[in-house]
Amino acid sequence: MPAKNTVFFCRECGCESSKWTGVCPGCRAFNTMVEAPKDSARSGKNAALPRRSAPDEAVRLDEIPAGEATRISTGSAELDRVLGGGAVPGSLILTGGDPGIGKSTLLLQVCRSMAAAGRRVLYVSGEESLRQIRLRADRIGAFTGDIRFLCETDLDRILQTAGQMKPEVCVIDSIQTMFREEAAGTPGSIGQVRECTLALMNYAKASHVTVFIVGHVTKEGTVAGPRMLEHMVDTVLYFEGDRHASYRVLRGVKNRFGATNEIGVFEMRGSGLAEVTNPSAFLLSGRPENVSGSVITCVMEGTRPLLLEVQGLVSRTSFGMPRRTAAGMDYNRMNLLIAVLEKRCRLSLSDCDSYINITGGIRLNDPSVDLAVVLALYSSFKNLPVLPELLVFGEVGLSGEIRSVPMTEQRVAEALRLGYTTVLLPRSSLPLACDTRGLRIVGAGTLEEAIRFLEPPAVRGKEPQ
Ligand code: TYD
Ligand code: MG
Repeated sequence: MPAKNTVFFCRECGCESSKWTGVCPGCRAFNTMVEAPKDSARSGKNAALPRRSAPDEAVRLDEIPAGEATRISTGSAELDRVLGGGAVPGSLILTGGDPGIGKSTLLLQVCRSMAAAGRRVLYVSGEESLRQIRLRADRIGAFTGDIRFLCETDLDRILQTAGQMKPEVCVIDSIQTMFREEAAGTPGSIGQVRECTLALMNYAKASHVTVFIVGHVTKEGTVAGPRMLEHMVDTVLYFEGDRHASYRVLRGVKNRFGATNEIGVFEMRGSGLAEVTNPSAFLLSGRPENVSGSVITCVMEGTRPLLLEVQGLVSRTSFGMPRRTAAGMDYNRMNLLIAVLEKRCRLSLSDCDSYINITGGIRLNDPSVDLAVVLALYSSFKNLPVLPELLVFGEVGLSGEIRSVPMTEQRVAEALRLGYTTVLLPRSSLPLACDTRGLRIVGAGTLEEAIRFLEPPAVRGKEPQ
C-alpha cells in the first residue's frame, strides 16, 4: 500500500494527526481537523517558532540587555493606541477582518503616513493590480516619500525584493494569497499559510522590519483558519463593524508588546478611514429623546471608557411562546437578568417578548452593562422614559444586589466630559466617585432601589423608604 502523503491539522491549535478525528487530540475542539499535504507539515505548534541557523546558548536574565523597545508611530493615533503606543520594529502584526471592512485601506493609509514621516515602505498586494492600488490611493490623498508598490504572490520573490530595497515597514495583503514554491498546497491552504507566515516572521526578526499582514476571516474558518495564524504572530488586530454602517472598530486581541483589549474607532468616508477621537459622542449620536427603553451606560474597552446606548423592548407576546433576542450581548446573560428582574422585583415577563440591542454594533462582555440592561427592560415594560442625562453602570447579582465594577473614576469622568448630569452606580462604589464637579451621583444597593429611582418623583414618594 502506498504511503499516505497527507496529514491532518487542527485549525485552532495546529495539532497534527495522521488520521481524521472529530475532536482535536490537542485542544479538544470539535470539527477543526483539516487535511494538508505532508511535506509542508512541521510538527504542531513548534512550527510557529522562528528557526535560527545556529542554536543560541541559554542565557541568564541579567545577561539580556534591558531597555524599552523603541516604537514607531504609524501616523494614526487610534492604531498606535491599539498597538500599545506604536509599532515595534521587527514585529509581525496580523490584521484580520471580514472582506470589505477596510483592512487594505487602513494599511495603505498607514504606509502613506509612515512614508511621509521619512520611512522606507514596501506595500505588497497579492489581491489587487497596481491600477487598483492607484485608484484607492487617489481617494486617500497625495503620497510622498519613499514608498514602493509591488503586485506579487510568490513570497520568495517578495523577500528578495525586500532584501534589495531594505524597507523599514512592509505590508503583505493578504497572507492567503501568498505561496512558496518549496511548500506544497495551493495558496491559502494551511500548509502554505503556515510556511509563508514563518518566512515572514524570520524576515521581520532578522531584518528588524515591521511587517503588517492581512488575514481573511471566513465565517466557517475554512482551511487557513486565522486561529493558527494567531499563534504565530506577535500582534493580532481585528477590524470589526457593520459593513453597511460607516464606523469601524479596531480591536487588539493579542499583543506581545502591550496590553490587549484596547480599541480604536474609525469612520469610513469617501476619502478613506478617518479617526474618531470622541467615540462616545459618535456612538450616541441619533439617540431618540424621551422614549422608554433607552438607557446610557459606560463600558471599559481596555483603558478607554465608552458610552453606549442599551435599548430594551418588552411587548406582549402574540404567540404562545415568548421570544427573546439579545443583539450585542450574551443571550444567556439576558435570560439571567430577566429572571432576576422577575424574582426580585416581582415583575411578570413570562407573557412578553423581550429584546435587547446594544447600539453601535459593538459586542459586550463587560458585566457592568447589567444594570443598564435591566433598567432598559423595566423602562420599556412600564413605558417609562428614563432621564435623558442619566448614566448607569453596575453588575447585577442573582440576589438582585448591585455589585461594584472596576474603574469607577474613569467612567464617572467620561460621563462628566460628555455632559451627563446624573450617574446611578453601585452603592459600594460611591466613595470612589469623588471628583464629581456638580454631577449628581446616586448609589443603589439593590435592583429595587435602582428601579425606584426611575419612577417619577410623585410615585417614588409613595414607596416605602
Ligand atoms: P477594503 O480596504 O478594500 O477592505 P478589505 O481590504 O478589508 O477587504 O475596503 C473596501 C470598502 O471600503 C469598499 O466597500 C469601499 C470602501 N471605501 C470607502 O468607502 N472609502 C474609501 O476611501 C475607500 C478607499 C474605500
Ligand atoms: Mg483588501
